[in-house]
Amino acid sequence: MESVGLALIGSGFMGRSHALAFHCVKSVFGDEVPRVRFELQCDRTTERAEAMRERFGFARATADWRDLLKDDSIDVVAITTPNRLHCEMAVGALRAGKHVICEKPMGVSLAEGEEMAAAARESGCVTMLGYNYTKSPAFLHAARLVEGGVLGRPYYFRGVMDEDYMASEDLEWSWRCLRSQAGLGALGDMGCHVFSKALRLMGPVESLVGEVETLHATRPKAAEDGGGVGEVENEDRATAMLRFKSGASGLFSTSRTVWGRKCHLAWEVHGTLGTLVFTQERMNELNLYLRSDAAGESGFRRIITGPAHPPYGEFVPAPGHSVGFTSQKTIEVGEFLRAVRSGGDVYPDFGDGLEIERTIWAVAESAERGSERVVVQR
Ligand SMILES: NC(=O)c1ccc[n+]([C@@H]2O[C@H](COP(=O)([O-])OP(=O)(O)OC[C@H]3O[C@@H](n4cnc5c(N)ncnc54)[C@H](O)[C@@H]3O)[C@@H](O)[C@H]2O)c1
Repeated sequence: MESVGLALIGSGFMGRSHALAFHCVKSVFGDEVPRVRFELQCDRTTERAEAMRERFGFARATADWRDLLKDDSIDVVAITTPNRLHCEMAVGALRAGKHVICEKPMGVSLAEGEEMAAAARESGCVTMLGYNYTKSPAFLHAARLVEGGVLGRPYYFRGVMDEDYMASEDLEWSWRCLRSQAGLGALGDMGCHVFSKALRLMGPVESLVGEVETLHATRPKAAEDGGGVGEVENEDRATAMLRFKSGASGLFSTSRTVWGRKCHLAWEVHGTLGTLVFTQERMNELNLYLRSDAAGESGFRRIITGPAHPPYGEFVPAPGHSVGFTSQKTIEVGEFLRAVRSGGDVYPDFGDGLEIERTIWAVAESAERGSERVVVQR
């Protein structure tokens, strides 16, 4: 397969991020990936779709995403719309025989995640979810270290994702506050990112005890939303104690109301031979402590990523010069396109994604049942 035709749905934060990644991917990964033909840009209005078409060089633009279903020039579909549209679009595209890369979370309910995973299995197409933080060279190296046994037996994981984008009680009510539009709150927006890493490093969560809180129960509504105040139907923050299938334990928390946190996606793995520590706000570094270090010389070593941590060197030939958010997205799209052309696994596909969904919904379920321990359903 020399080239693939792309349809991109959405042109907001993630739409632009995907468009940049699909533009860079061939230049970065060369013969490993097919060339991308920018066939169709979709958005909810013709004006938005047309502006994006012009900017990124798509051949056509449409205000009806269903146009892609009957378009034979399209092989892969990237979905970057609000959560409530993911399931319908992904299932539609898979049934039309298209490979799908879709933003997280999978949908607004666990049932939607299940429907998407079933459609993926039935289609035989390649699927992937936008858990881009699992694609940084630092995280890929961390996974190799843990898998290679450098930490010994990993017996504990502590992971958090905090931001302050809804910290102010004056922030206006939006679709993000509604279960029917967004699904879960902080859990669906950020908690799922923590679990995309936890599951990669530690394997599946067996059971958990969760609690959630909505700090700002109402928010002021803009005049175009009818004015007054609107109810916030999903959680601002969540915490859970975890038991992994491996026997390891863990602690998880996420919040969208922590002043000062911008992308505090941070985790630690505690092992019998050492400790590994990371935060996304310093995404080019890992901190590793090994008990085997000589007495008097022990301490955390700060590993600064470079060409020794593939695929860093495909972006920058010198260590410490740093890669960024778009590089992560390009690595993700590279993995997706390699699988589209040559087969092979991607992480996370819709099956892996369903495992993440089951875990965040189990936190919500446990909280609803008064913080009872719940077994993650499979
Ligand atoms: N992976 C990440 O790090 C990350 C970061 C932010 C957001 N996200 C996810 O990406 C998704 C989009 O978030 P965003 O911040 O880009 O939102 P956004 O509001 O910036 O963009 C959404 C886009 O979808 C378009 N859209 C809405 N309805 C549509 C329809 N019916 N047909 C076609 N297009 C339609 C909008 O016009 C807009 O262009 C969400 O699911 C979110 O959870 C992921």
